[in-house]
Amino acid sequence: MSSLKTPLVEMRDISISFGGIHAVDHASADLYQGEVVALLGHNGAGKSTFIKILSGAYKRDGGKIFVNGQEATINNPRDAKGYGIETIYQTLALADNVDTAANLYLGRELRTAWGTLDDVAMEAEARKVMGRLNPRFQRFKEPVKALSGGQRQSVAIARAILFNARILIMDEPTAALGPQETAQVGELIKQLKADGIGIFLISHDIHDVFDLADRVTVMKNGQVVGTAHVNDVTKDEVLGMIILGKCPPGAIPGPGASNS
Ligand SMILES: Nc1ncnc2c1ncn2[C@@H]1O[C@H](COP(=O)(O)OP(=O)(O)OP(=O)(O)O)[C@@H](O)[C@H]1O
Ligand SMILES: [Mg+2]
Repeated sequence: MSSLKTPLVEMRDISISFGGIHAVDHASADLYQGEVVALLGHNGAGKSTFIKILSGAYKRDGGKIFVNGQEATINNPRDAKGYGIETIYQTLALADNVDTAANLYLGRELRTAWGTLDDVAMEAEARKVMGRLNPRFQRFKEPVKALSGGQRQSVAIARAILFNARILIMDEPTAALGPQETAQVGELIKQLKADGIGIFLISHDIHDVFDLADRVTVMKNGQVVGTAHVNDVTKDEVLGMIILGKCPPGAIPGPGASNS
C-alpha cells in the first residue's frame, strides 16, 4: 500500500469521554482502498467506540475525520452513509421473517411506476449483488432466519455494498460463527478487498487477523499503542502490544505505547 496515495479514511486525534472515562483518547488510524485494517485490543480498549465515531453512532469530543483527503462532517449515521461508510454490527440487524431481497431493500424499497413494491427488480438486484459476494448462494425465496450464519453475514454485507459502500466497518463479524462459517466470511472479506473496498475489522482472533488484515492498529485504555503491517510484526509482538502496551520495532508507536 503506497503511502503516497490518499487514504480512504483518516481518523486523526479522536477523543470521546463518557462521564469521567476517556473511552477513546487521542486515537488515530487510517485506511486505504482495498485494505483491511484490524483493530485489536482487550475488552473495553475502546475499539467499538472508536468505530462508532466513524459510523456516526457517537459524536466525538475532539479530533477530525478525513474521507479521501477532505475533512468530513460526521455527526450521525446518515452523514456517515453519505460518505459511503457502512457498518455491519455483530447482531447483523436482519429482518428474520422476510427473504434476502426484502432485507437488502429494507426501508429503501424499489417501487414500480404505480407505487407498488417492485419485487421483480429487487430480486434481480439481490441476485446480482449476492452473485458477486457468494456465487453459490441460491436461497433467495427463503426467509433469512432459515439461512446459515455465514449466509446471513453475506446478506448483511450485500445490504451494505448495494448502496455503494466504499468503507466497511465490521465489528466482530465472526464472533458467533463456527470455523466453516468463519472461513466463508474470510472469503467475503477477500472479495470486498478485490473490489477496492476498505475495511476496518474488529476481531479478537489474532490468527484471523493475520490471515485477513494488511495492517493492525492496537488499542489499550482508549489509546493507540501502535500500528503495523502484519508482515513487519510477529503474532507474539502483537500480543505484547495488546497485553503490555509494548510497541515493537516494526510498528509505528501511538500515544498509548508504554515504551515510547
Ligand atoms: N455508551 C457508553 N456509556 C458509557 N461508557 C461507555 C459507553 N460505550 C463505551 N463505554 C466505555 O468505553 C470504554 C470502551 O468501550 P468499547 O466498547 O469501545 O471497548 P471495546 O474495545 O469495543 O471492547 P470489547 O472488546 O469488549 O467490545 C469502556 O470502558 C466502556 O465501558
Ligand atoms: Mg467492542
